Amino acid sequence: MDRTRRDTPLPRPRGPRYGIDAPAFPAATAAAGLACCLAAVRRAPLRPARAALAAAGAALLAHSGVYLHTTLRGKLRLWARELDRAGLAGDEDLLDLGCGRGMVLIEAARRLPSGRAVGVDLWTADQSGNTRAAALANAAAAGVGDRVQVRTGDMRALPFPDASFDVVTSALAIHNIPSPRDRYRALDEALRVLRPGGRLLIADLRPMARRYAAHLGRGELRDLGPAYWYGGPYLAVTLLEAVKDG
Ligand SMILES: C[S@@+](CC[C@H](N)C(=O)[O-])C[C@H]1O[C@@H](n2cnc3c(N)ncnc32)[C@H](O)[C@@H]1O
Repeated sequence: MDRTRRDTPLPRPRGPRYGIDAPAFPAATAAAGLACCLAAVRRAPLRPARAALAAAGAALLAHSGVYLHTTLRGKLRLWARELDRAGLAGDEDLLDLGCGRGMVLIEAARRLPSGRAVGVDLWTADQSGNTRAAALANAAAAGVGDRVQVRTGDMRALPFPDASFDVVTSALAIHNIPSPRDRYRALDEALRVLRPGGRLLIADLRPMARRYAAHLGRGELRDLGPAYWYGGPYLAVTLLEAVKDG
């Protein structure tokens, strides 16, 4: 036996990568936090000023850490839980509004062995590297490319006929629409493309989710907890679950 030969490890297959939501935001808070900490160490002449700068720096760095945990891990875990909880039969047609790189879309597709998961997005700069190609590559890397479709489209005017989906999901996407009237139009579109008895699952910042429920006049709201805080409890995410009348 050749004792000098070493087994070459096989390259690990690359799993999906979902990027960072609104990356400028955690970058800015981390940079401000570091600047405060450096100023506390190097410049502040008085002890109270140093303490205040150090506290502000630590708070800003903690904010970035919580944000990154949410966008890289927490939201995946929570969507996996919520999709399990939805009790999908496995043959549904599901539409994800503002799918980005496909986090919800792919978690849903894993639970739809004989169904279909369709994502729509306009690819605005609200998530690092969000492109149609990235979403499709992630679906292929997750082994669900055969049941995932990704369309370029605006959720305010969905390119689908009435009553064509059993489930419509959306994660942190509707609040990106600047005007309340257009956000409500996106919700009306979501209801339009749902089949009677179909289900809406929309996660968004807490005050937004409350307004969506008021606009739709239906639905149950559930806070998703610290694993879905974009930095702190003031940017917490709430899930709205609603059923279209049968
Ligand atoms: C913060 S990202 C969230 C992506 C994904 N849902 C997730 O949680 O990983 C928001 C996404 O909404 C998309 N978006 C914003 N406005 C949209 C619109 N009017 N129609 C479709 N997609 C939109 C953006 O391009 C972006 O990919």
